[in-house]
Amino acid sequence: LESILTLMALGYLSGSWLGALTVCRLVGVRDPRLAGSGNPGFSNVLRLHGRRLALATLLVDATKGMPVLWWARALELPPWGLGLVGLGVLLGHSYPAWHRFRGGKGVASAFGVMLVLTPGVALMCAGLWALLAWRVRTAAIASLVSAAVAPLASIWLAPDFVGVVIVFTLLVLTRHVLNLRRLGRGDEPPL
Ligand code: G3P
Repeated sequence: LESILTLMALGYLSGSWLGALTVCRLVGVRDPRLAGSGNPGFSNVLRLHGRRLALATLLVDATKGMPVLWWARALELPPWGLGLVGLGVLLGHSYPAWHRFRGGKGVASAFGVMLVLTPGVALMCAGLWALLAWRVRTAAIASLVSAAVAPLASIWLAPDFVGVVIVFTLLVLTRHVLNLRRLGRGDEPPL
C-alpha cells in the first residue's frame, strides 16, 4: 500500500504539470486561462492558438503520467492500484496545488493514463473524440460523449479496469459542469 500511495503522489506531481501553460509560455502567446473558455487544456489552446500548439499541449498532457504508470506496472500492482496511480495523475492535472488547485478538465491526461492501462479503450475514445469534434465542432460534447462511452468500452476491452474507468469518467464529467451549463444555454464556444 505504501508504494501505491507514493506512486499516487508522484502521479499527482507529474499530473500537475499543465502542458497548456508551458507551451504557451515557451512560445510567448496569451495564457489560455485568460481567454476563450479559460481552460488550460488542448481544446482551448486549439481555439486560441491553432493546431500546432494544441498538439504540443496534448503531447505533454497525455504523456506526463506515463513514466510513473510504467513504474507502477513494473511493480505488478493490481488494477485498482494502477487505477489509484492514474487517479493521482488526473487529480494533479485538474487540481494542481501550485496553480491554486485550478487545472484542466482531464481529457488529454485521462487519454494518456488509459493509453497505458487500457490502450484499446483509449484509442477507441480518441477516435470517437476526433470524429465528434470534427462533426459538431464542440470539444465539450466530444469529451462528454467519449467519457460516457469509456466504461462501456472497457466492459468489452478491459474488464478488469471497469471500476477504474468509471472513476476517471466521473472525474472528467464533474470537470465539465460549466460546459454543461453553457451547452444548456446554447453559448458554448465552438472549437
Ligand atoms: O478537453 C476539454 C474540453 O472538453 C472542453 O474544453 O476549453 O471547450 O471548455 P473547453
